[in-house]
Amino acid sequence: MSRANAIRFEKRADGVGVVIIDVPGESQNTFYEGFHEDFNAVKQKVDSSGVKAVVITSGKESSFIAGADIEVIKKMTNSEEAERRSREAQQALEELASSPIPAVAAIHGACLGGGLELAMACKARVASDDPRTKLGLPEVQLGLLPGAGGTQRLPRLVGIEAALDMILTGKQIDPRRARKIGLVDEVVPRAILVDAAAKIALELAGPNGEKSLADRVSELADVKALRELALGRNPAGRNLVFGQAEKQVRKKGGDAYPAPYKILEVVRCGLEKGMKAGLELEAKRFGELVMSDVARRLIEIFFATVALKKDLGTRGANVSARKVSKVGVLGAGLMGHGIAYVTISKAHVPARMKDKDEAAVGRGLGAIRKIFDERVEKRRMREIERDHLMSMVTGSTDMSGFKSCDMVIEAVFEDLELKQRVLKEVEAATEPTTIFASNTSSIPITKIAEASSRPEMVIGMHYFSPVHKMPLLEVIRTKQTKDEVIATAVELGKKQGKTVIVVNDGVGFYTSRILGPYMNEAAWMLSEGVPIEVIDEAAMSFGFPVGPITLLDEVGIDVAAKVGKIAQAAFGDRMQSPGGLEKIVEDGRTGRKGGKGFYVYGRKKGKRKSVDESVYKALGVKPNTKEKRSLEELGERLALPMVAEAIRCLAEGVLRNPRDGDIGAIFGLGFPPFRGGPFRYADALGPAELLRRMRGYADKHGKRFAPPELLIERASSGHRFYDH
Ligand SMILES: NC(=O)c1ccc[n+]([C@@H]2O[C@H](COP(=O)([O-])OP(=O)(O)OC[C@H]3O[C@@H](n4cnc5c(N)ncnc54)[C@H](O)[C@@H]3O)[C@@H](O)[C@H]2O)c1
Repeated sequence: MSRANAIRFEKRADGVGVVIIDVPGESQNTFYEGFHEDFNAVKQKVDSSGVKAVVITSGKESSFIAGADIEVIKKMTNSEEAERRSREAQQALEELASSPIPAVAAIHGACLGGGLELAMACKARVASDDPRTKLGLPEVQLGLLPGAGGTQRLPRLVGIEAALDMILTGKQIDPRRARKIGLVDEVVPRAILVDAAAKIALELAGPNGEKSLADRVSELADVKALRELALGRNPAGRNLVFGQAEKQVRKKGGDAYPAPYKILEVVRCGLEKGMKAGLELEAKRFGELVMSDVARRLIEIFFATVALKKDLGTRGANVSARKVSKVGVLGAGLMGHGIAYVTISKAHVPARMKDKDEAAVGRGLGAIRKIFDERVEKRRMREIERDHLMSMVTGSTDMSGFKSCDMVIEAVFEDLELKQRVLKEVEAATEPTTIFASNTSSIPITKIAEASSRPEMVIGMHYFSPVHKMPLLEVIRTKQTKDEVIATAVELGKKQGKTVIVVNDGVGFYTSRILGPYMNEAAWMLSEGVPIEVIDEAAMSFGFPVGPITLLDEVGIDVAAKVGKIAQAAFGDRMQSPGGLEKIVEDGRTGRKGGKGFYVYGRKKGKRKSVDESVYKALGVKPNTKEKRSLEELGERLALPMVAEAIRCLAEGVLRNPRDGDIGAIFGLGFPPFRGGPFRYADALGPAELLRRMRGYADKHGKRFAPPELLIERASSGHRFYDH
């Protein structure tokens, strides 16, 4: 629907028109329904206004146009409709591109998806040098492709290789990089953005306009881009570039995600058969992708994360988070230094780290510095910024400097007694309002809080390793945790750059609990003689990024054995273990950290080489390499117990809703996004079919596959887990 005043038109004294996109009532510009109608109406005004040239810009603080309104895409009900919309957008941008009045985009803020497609249809682009300015085509992340000419214009502007890199990954680049590859013509301070764009626009409108454009392009194109363009024009070179890109795509996502393959097809078609054919195929493939199951799942995940951004996870309404001005971190080990890193670098909150001795504190600070150094090396950060951020973290071996902390997060060894002891130390050294958060991966928070004199201030904040890379934070509330404490932990997590789910306390909370039966099933397969690499491959063929045995090596076999025992004690039959892991630990194997696990690790950088065949002897099993096994069946055998456990977590109220369960599994454990998480997966299969499969495995493998009550109930009532 058309929106009044979303696109304004003004005339400058120098004869250049300025089109200002400023969707009322929104903090960001997006392509709302009816945008192109409004845009065409303004374009007619421009055409009849007598201006020589036009600048297109935005009235928002942090976005040029941040892309499509995903709600509009979600509502599309058939491929034909999606294809038609794509054609309409293409048409509008074609008219802009071929207009005799040259247009220049003045870009400040997010210029993504359709926003970049619009900018590319202009004759030239100027970007502000502001850190908020980012350019990209993120459609692939939603299982789609750019449907308004992006697959055609980007390769023509920047060459095939740079274009594929952007379209296939959806990455967002900064203005400096955009200038380097030729996506923007100039980068200027925001204050003179429109003036700079108007200057170019006038130049383009002048008698030597086309020539000045050609000069600009050749000045931009560095040697690499020229070579690359040449490669693209020559069929053998083109085959090489597309062949390599396809290999990369296959390596990354296998055949599970259709969009990257369609992107390759459409880009190639445009280069070989011309822009018109390329645009036609682009619209057609866009229409198909919008209706694909994978895009539906990825769009659902997108909306789930948007909803989580607004969710504080509290029980009551009208609760707000307290300001956190300083965070204490206990333990400067693997997790502790990671938590301190995201606190200073993302949340910009000072952190104080404590460990047992100077050496451990030094190692922690060194590890933080190393992450910054890598960023500096990759030119993602300036040295001065690194030094400033490093000055926000300090270390100590006692509780000095903790009194002023609003929150203390502990990441000491996984030991209840120790955790209770440090809790008491914290309570003695801090104000009564200081929040105590534990990063335990398996101990119920209620148990830790038993030692507390103020249990309402105790909460779980379960981060994942490596903390600076993993996107999830699982916040665990006990029956006693105060609402304000929950809101404060959630808010800090978001500032640290995390997607945050809030769950109720219990053994293993949510993520560790559902990981248990998955890892346990892998142990059963091992005990049956299924070769290690086959188990890992089966999980990956289901869509997990790594297999469970690799994960065991990463997490630490000793840690997993300990957690397995706790799970068995808590959940009985269905987490019954075949009991091999202890034997492996006794054999001196702890995984990658110890240089010895299921796989062999090289001395240099601990690089993994191959399966360590001697592990079978330690386990007392013979690998059966002869039997041909179905990877699909093995993959399901690993995944279904995880899905069933997630359903139990929902039934028991550990989870507040299926959404949190899906996001927790995808962002915390690598559950395949294209399957949408355990609950979307169960719904797509249908509860009755899932129940049938679980019963089939229960007949073969026993009680571990006993279906949860809630699944039986959903299967018989015909209800799904989500109501839409
Ligand atoms: N490693 C993971 O993947 C992971 C993931 C999520 C949660 N966790 C949890 O995080 C916690 C820490 O794990 P980690 O992997 O960082 O272990 P780690 O061994 O790397 O670090 C623990 C640190 O705590 C220090 N420490 C011990 N007692 C202390 C005390 N009294 N005061 C201050 N420091 C003390 C140790 O010296 C060590 O540096 C554990 O509870 C673990 O279960 C780990």
